[in-house]
Formats: sequence, structure tokens, C-alpha cells
Amino acid sequence: MSQPKLPEDFDPVRAEAFGNRMEDLFNQMGLVLMLGIGRETGLLDVLAGRQPSTSRQIAQAAGLDERYVREWLGCLACGEVVAYAAEGETFALPGEHAAWLTGGSPGFAPGSGFPGAEWLAETFVILSQVQPLVTDCFRSGGGVPYSAYGRFHELMARDRKAFFDQILLPAVLPLFPGWGKAMEQGAAVADFGCGSGHVLHLLAQVYPKSNFTGYDISPADIDRAQAAASRLGLVNVRFHLADVAGLDVERTYDYALAFDSIHDLAHPAQALGVIARSLKPGGSLLMQEFAASSRLGENLDHPLGPWLYAQSVLYCMTVSLSQGGAGLGCMWGQERVLALLAAAGFDQVQVRRTEADPYSDYFVARVSAG
Ligand SMILES: C[S@@+](CC[C@H](N)C(=O)[O-])C[C@H]1O[C@@H](n2cnc3c(N)ncnc32)[C@H](O)[C@@H]1O
Repeated sequence: MSQPKLPEDFDPVRAEAFGNRMEDLFNQMGLVLMLGIGRETGLLDVLAGRQPSTSRQIAQAAGLDERYVREWLGCLACGEVVAYAAEGETFALPGEHAAWLTGGSPGFAPGSGFPGAEWLAETFVILSQVQPLVTDCFRSGGGVPYSAYGRFHELMARDRKAFFDQILLPAVLPLFPGWGKAMEQGAAVADFGCGSGHVLHLLAQVYPKSNFTGYDISPADIDRAQAAASRLGLVNVRFHLADVAGLDVERTYDYALAFDSIHDLAHPAQALGVIARSLKPGGSLLMQEFAASSRLGENLDHPLGPWLYAQSVLYCMTVSLSQGGAGLGCMWGQERVLALLAAAGFDQVQVRRTEADPYSDYFVARVSAG
């Protein structure tokens, strides 16, 4: 078979460098899949904080088949996730790696503002399952409905709970002087696209004199939000199943929240108009979006650029397009956020960032007092 003719300016050094990157993708893919198994089987938890141990000791502690555990450890040792000592044939998980890999505490590597690899592994599996449906959309347009994503919302709810537990009260609220005091005295607050409601659960506990209302279009999320509020015995928080863009709420709230939700909506411009009108004169919206530019050229060095655009293709943009929506995608960027906020009637907008969440922009947008 004849070799394809190479272009005249073909650079073999560049080709080799790119080939090495492609090869490394196999390694990363293998690690992601094995980390998923490590989380499901509890192996990562068994390894965390454990003295260097043999595969037999680790398998025994985890109650798993030694042959599988040994091969799994081989992957993690080659990938420099666990340290291997050839002499005693032992494996150890460094504490700094365990902070990323083991669930719950901390669900986020300290100071990274991004979920640990356990989330990555589960996300990889779920998004792989919808990949064929998204591929069809490349040919025929349209999108993939929320119903196709199975456990994805449950997974996001868990991830977001860990995220908000860690940063909402200590790092995000202090960015907005005055909010805490007003909620202490009693304010009406609504969360638009509240998901499983954890932000409101946290706030309702800390500010019992305030009233909190959450809106979301997903029945499963609203059920989870209500169930958690009942479990916590909260009487100052309510959740409603609703499409934000269709709400008819006028001059009701002092503060509105929209965390990571506006870009997912089918009709974000309409929804921001609804949110602006739902605020009392002088009221403010706090909106979280991924920190990005609306110009691709300015996102090329983003440390998570490829992943965030992929997430947008596989979920954010696509769920919006499935409803005939705008399909903004999660990388729509600060310039477009500011333009949409202005068009919706917000007249003073500030953008804030916190080291605790370096991948987000926090917008505080006020409607005029007049
Ligand atoms: C990425 S999640 C964020 C959830 C939550 N705010 C958080 O930060 O964890 C986006 C949420 O927007 C909700 N959503 C999408 N379209 C909506 C609409 N038209 N009206 C209300 N909620 C909507 C989804 O169901 C989902 O719960």
C-alpha cells in the first residue's frame, strides 16, 4: 500500500511531538477509567492514609480479588498516582494525591476550585454513554434532552454540594459586602436554576430570618431539594418546579442567585429579563459562570479549555439546543454575559473572583432603585 504523500512543509519533529501527546491520551484515559473503578470499589479509600502495602494486603483490606487489584495497582503505579517500592512490592498513595482522589472530604483539592478525579471518572463514563447521541446531533442538528443523562444530575448534585460546602460561606458571600448583613436581618432570596438546592439549604440554616425560594425545571432536582429541606427541618425555604423563562414574579426578591445555570437555559435572555423583574428596586443578582472570554483566541491558554469546551458539546450547549434554545455553551464568556445582563435591564454590574474558585467569574448585577 502506498504511503499518503506528505505536504512539503511537513515537520517531522512537530509530528513526533503531537504523536507523543496522542500516546499520552491513552495513558490518561486508562487512568481515568481505573480511578472510576477505584472509587466504585472503595480501593482509593482503602489506600488513603495506609502504610505501604502489598497488593495482597490491599485486596484483603478492600475485600476484593487480588489478581484484579494487582493489575489495577500496576496502572496507578505506572501513572505515578501511587508510589511503588520494588523491594517489598508495596504500594502507597501519597496524602497529596489522596486529597484529590478520595470522596467527600475534601471533594475538591484544596484551593483548586475543581472537583477531584473521582468526579472526573464518573463523568467520563456518563458522558461516554451520551456521546453517540451527541454525534448524531452533529449530522442532524438539535440536541440531547436532559432525560438522556441518567445519573448525571445526581452526580452534579453531589459534586456541587461538596463545592458549596467548601466555598459558599467562607469565600463567595464575603465578595459581596452587605449581603450577609441584609440576610441576617431578613431578606427575600431566590435561586434560579437551583438544581438540588444546596445553596439555599446552606443559606436558610445560617439566616433563619430570611426566606428562600428555589426554581428549577428538573423534577428530580426539585424532589431532592425538597427532601433535603425536610430532612434539615427548614421552614424558611421552598422549591418550585418551573421554567425560569416562563415565571411571572414581579418585584418580590431582594436578592437573586443563578449559579452555573444561565448558560444551560433554553432562553437565557428571556430568563434574565424575568429575574431582573423579579427583583425589588435596588435588588441584586449574583450569577456564577465559568471565567472565560467570549473570544476563543483568549481562551487558548485556559488550563481546562479542552475539557470545558468538551463539556459544553456533551452537555451544556446540547441540552439547551434540545429545547430549540440559544445553546450558549459554558464557554460563552464574560463579554457576552455582560451584554446579556445589560440587555435584561441590569444597570450596574461588577465582576469578582475568589482564589477559592479560580475557574469562576462572579457577577453582581443590580437593577436600579428608581
Ligand atoms: C449546571 S446546573 C446548576 C445547578 C445549581 N445552580 C448549582 O450550581 O449546582 C443547571 C441547572 O439549571 C436547571 N435548568 C435548566 N433549564 C432551566 C429552566 N428553563 N428553568 C429552570 N431551571 C433550569 C437545570 O435543571 C439544572 O439544575
